[in-house]
Amino acid sequence: MHGLAYTGLARTGTATEAYGAEADGAEADGAEADGMAADASSPATTVGPAASTPATTVGPAATKARLAGADRYGTSAAISKWAFPNPGDAERVYLARADVFADALTAGVLTDGPVLLVPADCASPRNVVTVEIERLDPQTVVALGGDLAVCDAQLEAAANGRPTDRLSGENRAATAAAVGLYEFAGGAPTVYLARGNSSPDAMVGGTLTDGPILLTNPGGTHLPLVTREAIAALDPVRVIALGGTASVSTTLLNQAADGRQTGRLAGTTRYATSVAVAQRAFPSGSDRVYIARGDGANLTDAVASGVLTDGPVLLVNGPCIKVPDIIQKYLADVQPSTVVALGGQGAVCAQLLDDAAAAATPPPPGPDCDAVKCVALTFDDGPSAYTSQLVDTLDDLDVPATFFVVGQQSDARPNTVKRTYDHGYQVENHTWNHPEMNTLSLSQQRAQYTSTRDLLTSLGIAPTDMLRPPYGAWNSNTRNLGVPLILWSIDTRDWENRNTTQIRANVRNNIHNGAIVLQHDTISQSVAAVPGIVADLRARGYHFVTVEDLVPWAGPGDLVYSRGNVIDASVEAEPQVFDGADYVPPLDAAELPQE
Ligand code: NI
Repeated sequence: MHGLAYTGLARTGTATEAYGAEADGAEADGAEADGMAADASSPATTVGPAASTPATTVGPAATKARLAGADRYGTSAAISKWAFPNPGDAERVYLARADVFADALTAGVLTDGPVLLVPADCASPRNVVTVEIERLDPQTVVALGGDLAVCDAQLEAAANGRPTDRLSGENRAATAAAVGLYEFAGGAPTVYLARGNSSPDAMVGGTLTDGPILLTNPGGTHLPLVTREAIAALDPVRVIALGGTASVSTTLLNQAADGRQTGRLAGTTRYATSVAVAQRAFPSGSDRVYIARGDGANLTDAVASGVLTDGPVLLVNGPCIKVPDIIQKYLADVQPSTVVALGGQGAVCAQLLDDAAAAATPPPPGPDCDAVKCVALTFDDGPSAYTSQLVDTLDDLDVPATFFVVGQQSDARPNTVKRTYDHGYQVENHTWNHPEMNTLSLSQQRAQYTSTRDLLTSLGIAPTDMLRPPYGAWNSNTRNLGVPLILWSIDTRDWENRNTTQIRANVRNNIHNGAIVLQHDTISQSVAAVPGIVADLRARGYHFVTVEDLVPWAGPGDLVYSRGNVIDASVEAEPQVFDGADYVPPLDAAELPQE
């Protein structure tokens, strides 16, 4: 990924025309097709904020929108219209050179006006840009960078008689310092440090608003004096590197911090970094997210988006390759109501916007167990050598299920339990080493629960809030652990019979609405019985759900045997003891490393 990234940047200087041509050909159709149906009269090149949450849209699906122009200049104007919808909203307009990301990137912190792009080599500003400046009618038009970046003739043409100004220094780092000191004249709590040649890791940093982005030299080998001086003047609490150590070395970060706190916003890929930035800039999520092309040379849209402050910018592998898994996961977690593509079809194609919106759309609600027959399949004692096979089978059958895992087994097979969770199955707690809980003290019981929960949490699995006591053995202390105790209403006794036909028959002969079925993913015959069990129950009209969806109301100390048989925590019950004959869960070998 990083190799490609730098290849793309190296070609930046010659890529302008390719980008323009690509976007030119596709833009008009794309903007119309992806613009919001609720406001068909909107100009095709932009979508105003007022239309972003049309009242007529009902249901959970995320709304799609696109901010796009015929080329990067037009897109910068479209972003400007979105962020500053009314004339007078922007006191200043900033001009940045379209092919130098650093200037536009560091301008992301500027909040009093949009960044519009002008061509290299002192060519005249594009019409779409001058029209946008006339619409905004700012008090001042400001060039970012020196005369070599935005020349005087371009500045005068764009200003069209308005006062002009310039935020600049002798090089990119100095321009970044000038921008930062302008926006944060009174100091900043945070300073972000990015590599001077605008590594793609840094380009979505523009949505960060708690401090400026300052630059190393282009090669990332040293800290320019102007950057050190700006940090001293801003006197931040912390300095945070944007991107990995290949972009900003730890040595440079420590030099820049000069004894202050340090941090790093970085992922293993530029896509992951965009998620890290999003999580810092929008810690409680966001109702709107922007997606921009993050690969190849088409980085300008992401960079120009720095002025956007109402949602994070996430990178996709464009124009039409994929929405990376880590971005899909972020969208699924945050569930924004609007997903906005930045740039035309040549940057982010309609299919990628569809995919991102789909990822942001909450999953359809499961079956209504008040209206239809439901059953929860549960599997205990894993993960084991058979668990991944079972997960594949359940995937193929599209059957949700709940796994009550043993802590020490999960410790031995972390990838297997993580995979189970990542495939969407509910993973809950079956103690650390499968004791009879009723023989333990309260603190020993609590340790059995919390050690397993903590291990699972450390593996990235949502903290468990259910416990299945081994052998169904519990006492009043177990009920006081603060979680519901999940028992069962149909015991396949798979550990005893070890017979696929018998296991299947035990379920078929005892099935009832709201049942919780007990099996073990440590027993191959039980895993093998699953397709038959699913076929039998589907034929009888049953819907499969997780335990969570079967008894969503179960609370701490409740005893849950089935949907129809839940003993509330406030109701005394006779303690239950070992119900397992001579059954002991098998301890098999650790997982293979390639899992
Ligand atoms: Ni067990």
